[in-house]
Amino acid sequence: MSNAGANSLKQQDGKSLLKNDHLLNLEVDVLYHLGLDTSSNDLKAMFGDVKYVCMGGTKYRMREFAAYMAVVLEIPQEGKLVNLTKHSQRYAMYKVGPVLSVSHGIGIPSMTVLMQEVIKLMHYAGVKDPEFFRIGTSGGVGIPAGSVVVSSWGLNGVLERTYDLPILGTTRKFPAILDNSLSQELLATASPDDDFEIHSGGTFATDDFYRGQARLDGPFCDYTDADKMTFLKKLSSMGVKNIEMETTAFAAFTGEAGIRSAVVCVTFLDRLLGDQVTTSKSTLLDWQTRPMTVIGRYIVKSYQKTKSK
Ligand code: URA
Repeated sequence: MSNAGANSLKQQDGKSLLKNDHLLNLEVDVLYHLGLDTSSNDLKAMFGDVKYVCMGGTKYRMREFAAYMAVVLEIPQEGKLVNLTKHSQRYAMYKVGPVLSVSHGIGIPSMTVLMQEVIKLMHYAGVKDPEFFRIGTSGGVGIPAGSVVVSSWGLNGVLERTYDLPILGTTRKFPAILDNSLSQELLATASPDDDFEIHSGGTFATDDFYRGQARLDGPFCDYTDADKMTFLKKLSSMGVKNIEMETTAFAAFTGEAGIRSAVVCVTFLDRLLGDQVTTSKSTLLDWQTRPMTVIGRYIVKSYQKTKSK
């Protein structure tokens, strides 16, 4: 497969995830960080049936999610799940039926490298209307630790609902608003038997875990506890429910590609009560399954609908 000879990136339905005609000049597109390319890999055969692309920070979490989806979608796995990016080593990617489960590392730059190659991968695989999800961890703002937050929008470090990227020497701003209908569908999966709260709200996405998130426990800090609390309360009054390091860019890139997407995070602590994550490792691992449960329920329901069409 190559782009040579084509004069449009549009698929048969007239849509395209890609907005870059320069790609038409490439004989072969190398998706370097995925360890795949359009010449040596039959991307349609490998990924053509993907519908749900799920991303999260760690390789471990995304392997767990793939294993969980195999169980809930009743897709028997022969042997171990295979990391499809193993040649590149930087990220991990697993496929279970219609679900692609990919790790993106920590922070916006790590995630956007991966995300842009996955968007191209979906295009080359001929996937129609994929849905993207981020399964994350975060600090909560005024909600109990262990709660789940479905993001409505991302807020950048200077409190704007945009993802800002310098391009050719000029800072460009891209809207960081998430799909409201998908958020509502995810919130509707909540069950009265769930042992966690689920909230919708804004997500403050920072480029730093310490000062960027108004912590007092980093190696450097020149503001007071009162400054920190004033800032966190301001976030709360703006509708922010949690703080992490990716949502603005995730919302912006999926928005630019025309992809329906959602961010679902668990909170590890309430930032109005402290800075350090002191909950035990085993409890944190347990809490991390909560966003997976929410997204898993949605995917099972949505996939059943597409199969019965
Ligand atoms: N991830 C973050 O970015 N911040 C937190 O406080 C917890 C997890």
